[in-house]
This record gives sequence, structure tokens and C-alpha cells, in this order.
Amino acid sequence: TRALTFLGIESSCDDTAAAVVRMGDAGPEILSSVVAGQYALHEAYGGVVPEIAARAHAEKLDICVESALAEAGVRLDDLDGVAVTAGPGLIGGVMSGVMCAKGIAAGAGLPLVGVNHLAGHALTPQLTDGLAFPYLLLLVSGGHCQFLIVRGADDFTRIGGTIDDAPGEAFDKTAKLLGLPQPGGPAVETEAAEGDPKAFHFPRPLLDRPGCDMSFSGLKTALLRARDGAMAARGGLTRQDRADLCAGFQAAVCDVLAEKTRRALSEYLALSPAEPAIAVAGGVAANKAIRARLEQVAAGVGARFAAPPLRLCTDNAAMIAYAGLRRFQLGHRDGMDLSARPRWPL
Ligand code: KG4
Ligand code: ZN
Repeated sequence: TRALTFLGIESSCDDTAAAVVRMGDAGPEILSSVVAGQYALHEAYGGVVPEIAARAHAEKLDICVESALAEAGVRLDDLDGVAVTAGPGLIGGVMSGVMCAKGIAAGAGLPLVGVNHLAGHALTPQLTDGLAFPYLLLLVSGGHCQFLIVRGADDFTRIGGTIDDAPGEAFDKTAKLLGLPQPGGPAVETEAAEGDPKAFHFPRPLLDRPGCDMSFSGLKTALLRARDGAMAARGGLTRQDRADLCAGFQAAVCDVLAEKTRRALSEYLALSPAEPAIAVAGGVAANKAIRARLEQVAAGVGARFAAPPLRLCTDNAAMIAYAGLRRFQLGHRDGMDLSARPRWPL
């Protein structure tokens, strides 16, 4: 079969990204993946400001696409299609990306394929590790937390998820409450390495309830209470207190994710997958303690464990190019009426 080459475009949150992915007989290959973050633009506001994000995407998309094509050594003529995140996400940013993709597709006479951002994350372990369908995926980021059975390139079954905060959000809030820098995940992980996870008590929310749903907002309340208790007792927060609080919080997240993954795995294994595999994706998958725990859970049932490299765990356009390419292979095409969707469940 002929190789397929797709351009991918991503602009649903605070990263502007473009990438080129080629699918040949030997499997998919990432020819380039360019990501321009907007972190510095939003830092002073303590969070992503949608209007600033949309404007920055509109400004940076062209240059990201040009760089991605140049790095891949690919001209528009060499492409077989353009894939773009059409949601879910911040509507202004998604619209910027969709308009950019439409312009390129119309100008170069290429097929256009709209992609669900979550499908991009969900298909990443296949792109990076060659996992066969069906596989179990834990998607954990600043905005998402769900278990998906990935059955095909456009076939996903959600079997549970958070009922309130995403774990990344909980890491970020923990960092904020302890005066650590944002994004909070890496800072909390570093502190946790020096701390005693048993020094403070943290709950293990929803473990007493059946199923794979999770809750992380209670951990923030527990952290606040433990922090204030320590401050009242010692007239301030010591370095050790801070490390202990981080360690306790992270251990609670690990326990919850591990136990819920165990349950999700048994539900998945009931499908008798030929090559049982579990994968993690999303920014929180960068956490080494969490990875190690999930790896243990997978090993416990003889399932393969896959965690994409960090730059492909967080938002990027290679995953969008790949998801679009796979949708294209299934016959999906979008027209110039493709619209940006702020909400779009998988
Ligand atoms: O996937 P991502 O880049 O963006 C979305 O949320 O879609 O994920 C970012 C999130 C942030 O909340 C960040 O704190 C978290 O991933 N994160 C981590 C770590 N590195 C990033 N959380 C825990 N441990 C880490 N090492
Ligand atoms: Zn994402």
C-alpha cells in the first residue's frame, strides 16, 4: 500500500502545534512535531486566558506549520491530507486551528479531517508503542481523567473517570497552596521525593465505592487542613512539612489511580484482548511514581504497559496528524463546513 502523509494542527488549549506523520508499510513515523507553548503569556494571570490564547494561536499557527513542513522535508504537494483538532477545547483557539487547516486544505486541494483532541491522546500509545486494539488507556492531564477502552481509531468506550477535578488540576492546586511554582505537577513530584507520605493523613476518595469513577477535589481540602494544622502547630511551614505534604498527596493519588486501574483492567480483560496492554497518556503520565505504580498493576495481570515519551504525552500535533490519518483510512472526510466544538465527548 502507498504511504500516507498527514499534516496535523493542534490549538485547543495553550500550545500551538503542527506536525507531519507518515504511515508506511513499516508503521507510522513522526517526521516532525513542533510545539510552541504559551506559558509565559498566561503566567501572570494564574491560568490560561482564552482570548490571549486564541490571539497567540492565530499569530503562531502559520509559522508552526511552516516549521513542521520544513523539518519533515515535506512540501504541501507531498501531503495526503490535513488533520486538525476540531474540539473539545477553548473555542477561540480551536477556531483558529480549524480556519488555518481549512485554508491549507482548500488552497492545496487536500482532504480535511477534523479530529477529537481526546482521540489524539487516546491513539498516541499506538503511534509510539505500536499497541494493537483493543487496549486500555488511562488519560490523565490537567483537564482530563478517564479510562477508555480503545477499540479502534474511532471507537472508544469510556469506563469511568473523575467526577470532579482532574489529577493534574489537583497537583497544580497543591503546588499553589504550598507556594510552589506552576505547573504544579513537576514541582510537587520533586518535593515528594524528600517527604514522608505517612506524616500527614490523606483520604483515598471513592475507593469504597465500586466502579472506576474517581474524585480528587477532596485531596485539596485534606491538604489545606493538613497545611493549616502544621502551620498552627509550628508557627509556619517547614521545608520538611512541605515535602511531607507533597509526598502524602502524591501517595494518595497513586493509590487511587492504581486501585481504579486494577478494576478497569479486569473489565478490559473480560474482552479477552489478544495482546493485553494498558497505556497512560496526558501530562500527569510524566509522574514517575504514578508510572511505576501503573506498571506494577499491569505486570500483576501480565499486561503490557506503555507510556509515550513525555513530549507526546502532553499536547502536540503528531497525535492529531496520526488520529486524522487513521480516520481518513476509515473513510472519514470533513468539508469546509467543519466547525469548532468547545464540547465534544468521545
Ligand atoms: O496534558 P497536559 O500538558 O495538558 C492538559 O491538561 O491537557 O497536562 C498538564 C498537566 C498539568 O496539570 C501538570 O501539573 C501535570 O500535567 N503534570 C504533572 C507532572 N508533569 C505535568 N503532574 C504530576 N507529575 C508530573 N511530573
Ligand atoms: Zn490534551
